Amino acid sequence: MLVPSLKEAKIRTNKEVLTKTKEYIIKENLKKLGVGKKYFVKTYGCQMNEHDSENIKAILEDMSYTSTDNIEEADLILLNTCAIRENAHNKVFGYLGKIKHLKEERPHIIAGICGCMAQEEVVVNEIMKKYKWVDIVFGTHNIYNLPNILNKSIEKKQQEIEVMSCEGNIIENIPVKRDSKYKAWINIMYGCDKFCTYCIVPYTRGKQRSRKKEFILEEVNNLVKDGYKEVTLLGQNVNAYGKDLKEDYRMENLLEDVAKTKIERIRFVTSHPWDFTDKMIEVIKNNKNIMPYIHLPLQSGSNRILKLMGRRYTKEDYLNLYYKLKKALPYSSITTDIIVGFPGETEQDFQETLDVVNECKYDGAFTFIFSKREGTPASKMVDNVSIEVKNERLQRLNKIINQYSKEANDKYLNKVVPVLIEDVSEKNNGTLMGYTDTMKLVNIVADKKYIGTIQNVKITDVKTWSMDGVIE
Ligand code: SAH
Ligand code: SF4
Ligand code: F3S
Repeated sequence: MLVPSLKEAKIRTNKEVLTKTKEYIIKENLKKLGVGKKYFVKTYGCQMNEHDSENIKAILEDMSYTSTDNIEEADLILLNTCAIRENAHNKVFGYLGKIKHLKEERPHIIAGICGCMAQEEVVVNEIMKKYKWVDIVFGTHNIYNLPNILNKSIEKKQQEIEVMSCEGNIIENIPVKRDSKYKAWINIMYGCDKFCTYCIVPYTRGKQRSRKKEFILEEVNNLVKDGYKEVTLLGQNVNAYGKDLKEDYRMENLLEDVAKTKIERIRFVTSHPWDFTDKMIEVIKNNKNIMPYIHLPLQSGSNRILKLMGRRYTKEDYLNLYYKLKKALPYSSITTDIIVGFPGETEQDFQETLDVVNECKYDGAFTFIFSKREGTPASKMVDNVSIEVKNERLQRLNKIINQYSKEANDKYLNKVVPVLIEDVSEKNNGTLMGYTDTMKLVNIVADKKYIGTIQNVKITDVKTWSMDGVIE
């Protein structure tokens, strides 16, 4: 048993990050562990978690488990969790009730929790005390060892917990079963060293570790060979890519090298304003296969709050970067993240956030009410803003955000734009869906043979969150 420690998760040293290419090993006798058994993985949180789930699924299939979308028939249920806000927690604990029920009916079910919540000391303490029936708990640094963790729990018929709290290494040989045949997530870095005062990620994911370019480029080239059209380079701060590497190789170099491959579309998330260089903007401008879409989290428009958040930029720095981007990439779309109700946020501070929104007129935004996360500096700050005020601010903000999303979309009416057609639409009304180069969701009336291709689509109607179109 290895349980997480908040104290250790906070540590940052200069210890060298190791790239391990032989860490994932699956013993012969475990390759048949899942014969005749089905797994169900439910994923919460960000793209990084989505991608981790793709690794977890591949590992389970290496053990002969097969997938099911129906939890009722699953023999193994894993929740890959997110810890970013309290409601993410609540959702998971709520869902555990459902699993407990299923387990009472079918006691052989193995239930497990992994992901960012598993990295939290308080959560694991609670699981050990109140959720003894949960069979396995493993952390974000322990995915490669899933076969052994699972086997130990089955053999010993007891709760098996393996969560390392560490800065972390890079493990290169974990298999992946991708959810899409056309677009792929690629981790270019792990962890985060920014330590924004509200955020739990630096404690759940370890220190900032950039993957070596050889591994990234090999992955892109293999995806091209397999017919993939789009890659999204993933990291908490992709713009800081390479800062921790020995060689002088940064995000702009990586983007340029990925652009030289035959991949048709390149995206990257998330960009922290602090590390966005002029060279990066140049590279995005000069390469047609780098998509004109930038997610640029603002968090707050008040310099006082930005300072308390530890964001390392001022409103002026942010706007300066915003205008540089808009000038170099006038066609691009820009989205953001905003937190309202940070401890001590006054109406004046909030107004300053609205001012920036009114200036940037974002294509879209994810907006959140501040959530206290155990162990973060902001959790100790005096929070004198009532929940009613926070809710009211969120609603006022969302109203403006939605108005600008619609205005941004309106500009697309009757225009012809490239769309990677991915799948049938979720609405199930016979339409297909895909995203424009600028990351706008489009529902298209077209034959299924177009799935997996990039088509010029004429936009026939626009709404706040999506558009309709027909192939030109
Ligand atoms: N690395 C990214 C953010 C990842 S988390 C960046 O720095 O931009 C995604 C978003 O969740 C953040 O941008 C922030 O807006 C929100 N978030 C993070 N911690 C939060 C908290 N404690 N309460 C509310 N929102 C939070
Ligand atoms: Fe969290 Fe800040 Fe790191 Fe983003 S940059 S993951 S908000 S600590
Ligand atoms: Fe959530 Fe962890 Fe991602 S906390 S947002 S799943 S890095």
